[in-house]
Amino acid sequence: MNVNQLLTISAGSATRPRRGLELKELGIIEDGAVLCLGGKIVSVGKTKDALRDPWLKKNRKKVTEIDCVGKVVFPGFVDSHTHPVFVRPRLVDFEKRIEGASYEEIASAGGGIRSSVDGVRRAGKRTLAGKVLAALREMAAQGTTTVEAKSGYGLTVESEMKSLEAIREAASCWPGTVIPTLLGAHVVPKEFQGRSQKYVETVCRKMIPQAAQRKLAQFVDVFCDHGAFTSEETEQIFEAAALHGLSVRAHMCQLAETVLRPFLRFNPASFDHMDHVNEDDIAPLARHDTVATLLPGANYFLGLKDYPPARKLIDAGVPVALATDYNPGTSPTMSMPMAMSLACTQMKMSPAEAIAAATINGAWALRVADRKGSIEPGKDADFAVFAVEDYREIPYWFGANRCDLTVIAGAVSKPGPVRL
Ligand code: NIG
Ligand code: FE
Repeated sequence: MNVNQLLTISAGSATRPRRGLELKELGIIEDGAVLCLGGKIVSVGKTKDALRDPWLKKNRKKVTEIDCVGKVVFPGFVDSHTHPVFVRPRLVDFEKRIEGASYEEIASAGGGIRSSVDGVRRAGKRTLAGKVLAALREMAAQGTTTVEAKSGYGLTVESEMKSLEAIREAASCWPGTVIPTLLGAHVVPKEFQGRSQKYVETVCRKMIPQAAQRKLAQFVDVFCDHGAFTSEETEQIFEAAALHGLSVRAHMCQLAETVLRPFLRFNPASFDHMDHVNEDDIAPLARHDTVATLLPGANYFLGLKDYPPARKLIDAGVPVALATDYNPGTSPTMSMPMAMSLACTQMKMSPAEAIAAATINGAWALRVADRKGSIEPGKDADFAVFAVEDYREIPYWFGANRCDLTVIAGAVSKPGPVRL
């Protein structure tokens, strides 16, 4: 209660992700309050009206009140693209890049994604679950309450299933919501070098059926790009996912252009990165509900001067989301405010567009917009409370964590760092 700016980002009866000017509508209530019961939102409005609520008047002593005077409250961030199942940071890649090597050069010299694979293959499930849980907790401390988590550094049937099990174990110890994704098709592992078709068959005939049958994943993802998987292979993997009842998403156009129109028939939840999106794909994308998830943390960390063309996509009506792409190679950040800051300064998104992209459109990208991403009666009581007076300060104070606390399913999840 007493919230200086309550960003409801309310979707009303919206049945599709936000696009164009809709991204700027934050539904701000000044001096706002939210009433929650049993982990769900019951009512949203002005504090003075909430205090007149007959139920609240009668039950005031039983209710936990959080005073948010001078603060901003919004639906918790939905980080719709992360790779948290890895063991160590890739510091050699980091140094090589500083010395001038590119992401692709490092990968073909034995670094890159493949160099995270050994660690994951050797690690026990509990070790991996511990890494994932530590990341989830740190994310919550920065305002994130829903996270998509990919496997993708195991690249054998056994290690991919182990990675998904680790995600499930970590999720069971965390109050927020985790959406698991099978990314068996991250790169071709070295034992399949030159035999990518054989590896794709393993993904299609073993990994996807097992993940589906054991309900370990909700989505299947593919890294469709130079040095990873071709469009034909991606289609094959999408077919297998559809056959086993899993939805699809894909890393697209990060390093090179891929024509996206043929994939729309699979109704992908999102295409992620989109740096080199083909001009002719923009209009068809604007007509579909596949969300373009932009990951500026990767561009920042790779030291690139170009960023995904957010303005072009938004102005054409393509629904856009923002996520961290948390991973050890290209984006070791768990901070959605950092992704928002980069979106504003490097991609010319407005702070309002960045907030909507980091909440409600992230929820659409994970197909959980019926319960996440906005503050409306009936939705889950997940909120981030930021110690700022104006929402524009969230991307403004870059590199700082202004998250005071996070509420997940109606309960205070974790205090932010102490500030004097
Ligand atoms: O989203 N592009 C592919 N996957 C990750 C990078 C993973 C890695 O380098 O470990 C990404 O940027
Ligand atoms: Fe990624």
